[in-house]
Amino acid sequence: MLSYLPGCNSSRRDKDIVFDSFPAGELPDSEPRERWLAYASNTRVQGRTATSAATRRQSQINHTRKELMKAIVWTKYGPPDVLQLRDVEKPVPKDNEVLIRILATTVTAGDREMRSLTVPLWLRLPTRAYVGLRKPERITILGQELAGVVESAGKDVRRFKKGDEVFAATGFSLGAYAQYICLPEESEDSVLAPKPANTTFEQAAAVPVGGLEALHFLRKADIQRGHQVLIIGAGGSIGTIAVQLAKHFGAKVTAVDSTGKLDMLRSIGADQVIDYTKEDYIASDPTYDVILDVVGKSSYSGSIRSLKEQGFYLIANPRVSKMVRGLWTSITSSKKVVTETASRKTEDLLYLKELIEAGKIMPVIDRSYPLEQTAEAHRYVDRGGKKGNVVIAVKHSTDLSPPSGNGQREQRRSAGEGHSVHQGEKRQAEARSGVLADVGPRQTARS
Ligand SMILES: NC(=O)c1ccc[n+]([C@@H]2O[C@H](COP(=O)([O-])OP(=O)(O)OC[C@H]3O[C@@H](n4cnc5c(N)ncnc54)[C@H](OP(=O)(O)O)[C@@H]3O)[C@@H](O)[C@H]2O)c1
Repeated sequence: MLSYLPGCNSSRRDKDIVFDSFPAGELPDSEPRERWLAYASNTRVQGRTATSAATRRQSQINHTRKELMKAIVWTKYGPPDVLQLRDVEKPVPKDNEVLIRILATTVTAGDREMRSLTVPLWLRLPTRAYVGLRKPERITILGQELAGVVESAGKDVRRFKKGDEVFAATGFSLGAYAQYICLPEESEDSVLAPKPANTTFEQAAAVPVGGLEALHFLRKADIQRGHQVLIIGAGGSIGTIAVQLAKHFGAKVTAVDSTGKLDMLRSIGADQVIDYTKEDYIASDPTYDVILDVVGKSSYSGSIRSLKEQGFYLIANPRVSKMVRGLWTSITSSKKVVTETASRKTEDLLYLKELIEAGKIMPVIDRSYPLEQTAEAHRYVDRGGKKGNVVIAVKHSTDLSPPSGNGQREQRRSAGEGHSVHQGEKRQAEARSGVLADVGPRQTARS
C-alpha cells in the first residue's frame, strides 16, 4: 500500500526532478540541442575534472531529452508557502498504466493536513515515515483526486484509450497537483473511472475523495427509508456528498455545520440544519438511526446517547480513544461504532458516476484557482469555512504565469446561492446557471 509512487516510471524525488537551473517555461523539447549542451556545461559542470564533467554533461544531455511538466512541488512541512510551482519530469506510463493529462484537481482537508503535518497525533510518525522524515522526499506532489483526459495507455491497459475522459482518486501516491500523472488501470489504492458525462472536469475532480468516503460509511449503516441520519461536518467534501447520498437512500437528514453553509445544505436536500457554532446538536434522547461524524469532533458519550438501539455511529476521522471506546460499545451493546479507513473500489466510483448522471448527486464547488495559485487555494482552505470543495484548474499552455498576489482566478459564488443539483435536470440546469456554471466550461479547462 505504501509502495513508492506506484504507477510511474519516473522518480518524483525532489532532488531528481526539479530543474531549477533552467528558466521557467523553457522546456527542453523547445530548445535546440546545442543550446542545451552549452547550457548544461555552463551551469552544472563548470570547474570539475574533465572526466566527471564529461559524465555529468552526458547526464545533463540525457535529462534534457526527458519531457518536463509544471507541478506544484511540496518542499517542506508547513504553511501554504511550501507549495511551489516548478518544472518536473513528466511521468512515463508502465504497461499497466495510463498517462492522464490532468485538467482539474482539488484542495482536500487531507492535502492541507498532510502539507502542514496536522494529521491526528497517532498518524504523525507514520506520515513522516512514508512521506519523508524531515521534509517531503518520497512524495513531493500533493493532490488526491483529479479529472482529465487519457494521453496514452500502456500495452496491457484494456479499459481506457487515448482521448478518454476520466476522473480518479490517486490513493497514497498523491501527485495530482501537476499537469500529468500515471495511474494503473486497476489498483488496490488508486481508483480510475470514466468521467460523468454531465459534469465539467472541475466538477468531476471534486467527487472521488469525498464521494468514496461518504459512500463507504453510509453503506456500513444500511440506511432504510425514513431513517433519521445526523451528519456532523456536512458542509465539506465528504459531508456534501453524504447529505445527498443519505437523501437518495431515503433518509431524513439533519446536517450540522457552520453558519455560512446552512442555506447550501438545505439546497442540497438537508431536512434540518444545525449551526454547530451556536447550538448543541447532540439530542438528549435516542433520536438518530445513524450519526456520521466527518470531522471526529462529536462527544462520544453524547452521540451514543442520541443513537437508537441498533443504530450506527460512523466516525470518519477518529481519535484513538474513540476507536477503543467504539470497539467496546460494539461488543457490549446493540449500537455499532465504525472507525475504519474507507476502502476505494472502482465499482464505487462507477456507482457515483451513475448517480451523478441520473441527477441524484452533484459536487458542491466553492471556488476555483489556477494551478499556479495552489498555495493561495491552500490559504483559503486553511481559513476554514469552505463550502464543499475548492478546485484547482490545470492549464496546459507553456505560459503559466508565476504565482502572484492574492486571490483566486475567479471568485466563485457560494454553493448555497443557486446551487441545487440533486433532483434531475431542473437541478442540473440550476447548477449550470449557478455556482457550477462558474466553475469553468470544459473547453476552458482543456485549453
Ligand atoms: N477527504 C479525505 O480524503 C478524507 C478521508 C478520510 C478522512 N478524512 C478526514 O475527515 C475530515 C473531514 O474531511 P473533509 O474532506 O470532509 O473535510 P472538509 O471538507 O474540511 O469538511 C469538514 C467540515 O466540517 C466542519 N466542521 C469543523 N468543525 C466542526 C464541528 N465542531 N462540528 C461540525 N462541523 C465542523 C467544517 O466547517 P468549517 O470549516 O466552517 O468549520 C467543514 O465544513 C478531515 O479531517 C479529513 O482529513 C478525509
